[in-house]
Amino acid sequence: MKIVVIGGSGRVGSNVVRRLDAQGHEAVPASPATGVDTISGEGLAEVMVGAEVVIDVSNAPAWEDDAVLAFFTTSTRNLLAAERDAGVGHHVAVSIVGADLLPDSGYLRAKVAQEAEIEAGGVPYTILRATQFLEFLPQIVDAGAEGDSVRLPTGLMQLVAADEVAATVAELATSAPANGRIELGGPEALSVDAWARRLFAATGDSREVIADPHARYFGTELHGGELTTGDGARIGAIDFDRWFAGRAQGAAR
Ligand SMILES: NC(=O)c1ccc[n+]([C@@H]2O[C@H](COP(=O)([O-])OP(=O)(O)OC[C@H]3O[C@@H](n4cnc5c(N)ncnc54)[C@H](OP(=O)(O)O)[C@@H]3O)[C@@H](O)[C@H]2O)c1
Repeated sequence: MKIVVIGGSGRVGSNVVRRLDAQGHEAVPASPATGVDTISGEGLAEVMVGAEVVIDVSNAPAWEDDAVLAFFTTSTRNLLAAERDAGVGHHVAVSIVGADLLPDSGYLRAKVAQEAEIEAGGVPYTILRATQFLEFLPQIVDAGAEGDSVRLPTGLMQLVAADEVAATVAELATSAPANGRIELGGPEALSVDAWARRLFAATGDSREVIADPHARYFGTELHGGELTTGDGARIGAIDFDRWFAGRAQGAAR
C-alpha cells in the first residue's frame, strides 16, 4: 500500500521508510527536501494521491515557544485537510509521553496542540507517544552545560532507541487505526543527571554533573515521573549499553 512519510528524511522517518519498503509497501518520503512542505502546502495534494496511510514524523525547524506551536498546529491542520481531500484512511503521528503533564514547556505544549488537531481532524488516527530517544541524550545533556560542568534535573527519563520507535511506527501504520494514544518507552528509567553520568562514563567526558531539582528540561521543572510511561505501555528492549555499542559499531563502519 502507498504510505506517505512526512519527515521521511529525518531520524525516525528515514528508518520508517526503510522498514516499510522492506515489507513491500510503497513508502514515499515527503519533506521540503523532496518538494513537500506542510507549512506552505507545496506538493501536499500531489503526494497524497492514492495514499492509504500518512505518517507524520516531521519536526519543527525552530523550537522557540511561538515558532514550535505555529509549526505543529499549521502543519497538522494542512496535512489533515489534504488527507481528507484525498480520502486517506489513517493518520499516524509521534508525540511525547507526558506532554500534557508539563505545560511550562513550549515544545511540549506544541505537541499537545498537535495531538488536539489530530483528535479533531476527522481522519482515523493513531498517536504514538514515545519517551525521549537515546539519540537525543547528548543534546539534553548539553542543554545544561555551564563551563566545565552540566547542571541537570533530577526527574526521571525512560530513554528509548529511535530504531524501536521507528519499528513501532511502521507496525502501527500497517494496523487498524487505534483512534487513541499508545505509549512506548525504553527499558530503564533514570534521573536526567544519572543518564548524563552514564553517557560521560561511556564517552570519557570529564565534565562534572550537578544534580539540581530546579534545573529545567526544555523550559519546565520535572517533579518526578512525568516523562515515564504509564500502565499498558509498550517497553523497548534496547538499553543504554546495547544502544551505545551499536552506535560505536556504526561509527567504525
Ligand atoms: N527526540 C525525541 O526524544 C522525541 C521523543 C518523542 C517524540 N519525538 C517526536 O518524533 C518526531 C520525529 O523526530 P526526529 O528526531 O526523527 O525528527 P528530525 O530528524 O529532526 O527530522 C525532522 C523532519 O521534519 C521534516 N520537516 C521539517 N519541516 C517540514 C515541513 N515544513 N514540511 C514537511 N516536513 C518538514 C524534515 O525535512 P527536511 O530534511 O526536508 O528538512 C525532516 O525530515 C518529532 O515529531 C518529535 O516531536 C521526539
